[in-house]
Amino acid sequence: MSHVLAIDQGTTSSRAIVFDSALKVKAVAQQEFTQHFPASGWVEHDPEEIWQTVLSTCRAAMEKAGLTAADIAAIGITNQRETTVVWERDTGKPIHNAIVWQDRRTAPACALLRSEGHEPMFTEATGLLLDPYFSGTKLQWLLDHVEGARAAAEAGRLAFGTIDSFLIWRLTGGKVHATNATNAARTLLYDIRRGEWSRGICQILDVPMQMLPEVRDCAADFGVTDPAIFGAAIPIRGVAGDQQAATVGQACFAPGMMKSTYGTGCFALLNTGTEPVTSQNRLLTTIAYQLAGKPTYALEGSIFIAGAVVQWLRDGLGIIESAAQSGELAARADPGQEVILVPAFTGLGAPYWNPDCRGAIFGLTRGTSRAEFARAALESVGFQTRDLWEAMRADWPGAGEGAVLRVDGGMTASDWTMQFLADILGAPVDRPEVLETTALGAAWLAGMATGVYPGPEEFARSWALDRRFTPQTDEPTRAHRYERWQRAVEATMSV
Ligand code: G3P
Repeated sequence: MSHVLAIDQGTTSSRAIVFDSALKVKAVAQQEFTQHFPASGWVEHDPEEIWQTVLSTCRAAMEKAGLTAADIAAIGITNQRETTVVWERDTGKPIHNAIVWQDRRTAPACALLRSEGHEPMFTEATGLLLDPYFSGTKLQWLLDHVEGARAAAEAGRLAFGTIDSFLIWRLTGGKVHATNATNAARTLLYDIRRGEWSRGICQILDVPMQMLPEVRDCAADFGVTDPAIFGAAIPIRGVAGDQQAATVGQACFAPGMMKSTYGTGCFALLNTGTEPVTSQNRLLTTIAYQLAGKPTYALEGSIFIAGAVVQWLRDGLGIIESAAQSGELAARADPGQEVILVPAFTGLGAPYWNPDCRGAIFGLTRGTSRAEFARAALESVGFQTRDLWEAMRADWPGAGEGAVLRVDGGMTASDWTMQFLADILGAPVDRPEVLETTALGAAWLAGMATGVYPGPEEFARSWALDRRFTPQTDEPTRAHRYERWQRAVEATMSV
């Protein structure tokens, strides 16, 4: 009973990772699932498909590791955040596909709430902005559009949850309806200062509060799996949203520590300690983790397109065959051409929060080739990170001189991209040895809660550096390039 199973339920795939007693990865299983795009700007997932991929990857990972459920001390769950599911309490059946965090269908609802002057109140309570990104207006949409949903919710027959809640419900055979503070903090319904669901916001969005899950710590008792599922009951003891789990996995436990994860999007979190910091620069205030009833807060910058831009090079433009080629191609680009791509494919997230603008490319010449496209795509990720970095430094002086960015996620495998990131930030970028930081964070939370893994200090000491990228560019070049990026973004938003 010295292993921990981490479930990482992401936007495009479900993964299960078995960690041994030394927190080393013993086995990984991964399965992609279908992305549904029922209308322009809409993104949905089938919760049943998510559930099936979670089950099969958990079974496959245990089998690869040569283990059975009886060998697993605990399960840790980490998940794509904000994605909204509503299901029937009686049957466990979802009433509609899950509405994914990327889905923009509630942009008009958010605009209406803003025009009615509600945004300051939402921000004060939740730390978030009125953007379709968050769960609240997605839940409102489901209650408004699925026939009979609101009446059933009012009668207590429906349950709402982010993906963690849905999985906990299913894994425990419908015994536990709970979430954790980090996922609750992304719903637009949770008061992050008081640590409770906001009655006022639920009234404004017309959300019956009886459908909301109970909010627990990140390392807590979330029940045990139904023995029929894996052959034995496994305790679920760690749960955190994926970006918060990565913050934990990167051991960003001290105020001022900052991580940035490059998956589909890019999410940077800065630990600001025990007090929530209100952003003056359109960053989000969120809960980094909550242990023993005490929240640790963070400022978060969320970028919607990071790794997805490389997918676009591969699948949309067909100019590379594999993601790994993008760095090599970018390295061959003509230094004399200043091509800039603003990848606002689904609007822009922090700090612009413009759901309506769309992507643009600047500086094309007759000589522009695949290489300059690849370079512009990879650089866009660095430029967007610089936007967040600037906003964080302006909001929180603790993120000033001497700051280092810890990075993880698929794109960090590209040395070229990480070097550009260090160059454009003008600060060191640290890539750890373990790049599975999201799953690691979830596993550590669950393992710590069951006594398999050590406390935060010892865990932080085990964080090991793979490579530090230090800036190689001079300040005038950096300033020139960033200024051009800012002008390109302005132009994109004005079209
Ligand atoms: O907020 C959305 C985020 O949690 C999704 O992360 O890694 O599934 O793209 P990822």
